Amino acid sequence: SWTMHSFIESTVAAITAKVGDSRVICALSGGVDSSVVAAIVHRAIGDQLTCIYVNNGLMRTGESEAILRFFKETSKLNVIDVDATDYFLGQLQGVVDPEIKRKRIGLGFIKIFEEEAGKIGEVRYLAQGTLYPDVIESVSYRGEAPIKSHHNVGGLPEIMKLELIEPLRELFKDEVRELGLELGLPEEAIYRQPFPGPGLGIRIMGEVTAERLRVLRQSDVIVLEEMKKSGWYRQVWQSFAVLLPIQTVGVMGDGRTYENVIALRAVDSRDAMTADWSKLPYELLGTISSRIINEVRGVNRVVYDISSKPPATIEWE
Ligand code: XMP
Repeated sequence: SWTMHSFIESTVAAITAKVGDSRVICALSGGVDSSVVAAIVHRAIGDQLTCIYVNNGLMRTGESEAILRFFKETSKLNVIDVDATDYFLGQLQGVVDPEIKRKRIGLGFIKIFEEEAGKIGEVRYLAQGTLYPDVIESVSYRGEAPIKSHHNVGGLPEIMKLELIEPLRELFKDEVRELGLELGLPEEAIYRQPFPGPGLGIRIMGEVTAERLRVLRQSDVIVLEEMKKSGWYRQVWQSFAVLLPIQTVGVMGDGRTYENVIALRAVDSRDAMTADWSKLPYELLGTISSRIINEVRGVNRVVYDISSKPPATIEWE
């Protein structure tokens, strides 16, 4: 549209003028906001931008690969892609408290990001995807060490003494999506549901281990596939699987089983501040349940979460 077109022109001009010949870094997460920031800053200053993608080992299957491929191959963006899975799993060993999980994951991110950024040379700016709702309503994520400067604990900008570039500061989510499409990002990236920074780490109740990640990932892939196939993926705000910290009794053949429970969570929302559980068709719920129980080793029961926010939250931790 014309408005987006002129928004891009004026934003690109402003970034170019502000940055001069300095270097800019940004953190790519695979999500919509950071992808759109990377695209528009890249349009303004090209190779002066380097993006860092930290794989914390807590992403969904295939989660970030598509967007990374797009940035590396199609748009020729400089991307440092670091796999820190072992480090994060080490940090999470034995941890069950959700706030401690968030802190360890957040601090781990800052550590790895800083290390990688240190290899680039002199950097002056950090580009990040702060949106208008973040500006007016300082969202604090239950103890996670933040990137965003408006959070009350010191974030990356303070620690690394970087100045901020926040090209999406005046936009709402739907406008960011429109902007992303105008910038040529793949639809799949634009219509991705929100995904929390600590990733699957806060969707595994209790300890995060490689084996429990396997159970959750395989279940979650099925949720995603069936949501997309039925056309419900874009109609809900978020939809995902949660692994519970209990075993329940089941029966298979003529044997008794004692295995994991997966909770399915799907919510409708406009801004994540309030949410209602999605009225998914019984048939879809049934398909997801039987596929998970049949296909994922270690699961013998699936339940559907019918709680609204408030008083529940969208995530289980
Ligand atoms: P809750 O669970 O608080 O979630 O209703 C509201 C929205 O925020 C996401 N969320 C997070 N995002 N780090 C993030 O980056 C976090 O620690 C975190 N916790 C929740 C959640 O997925 C939902 O979209």
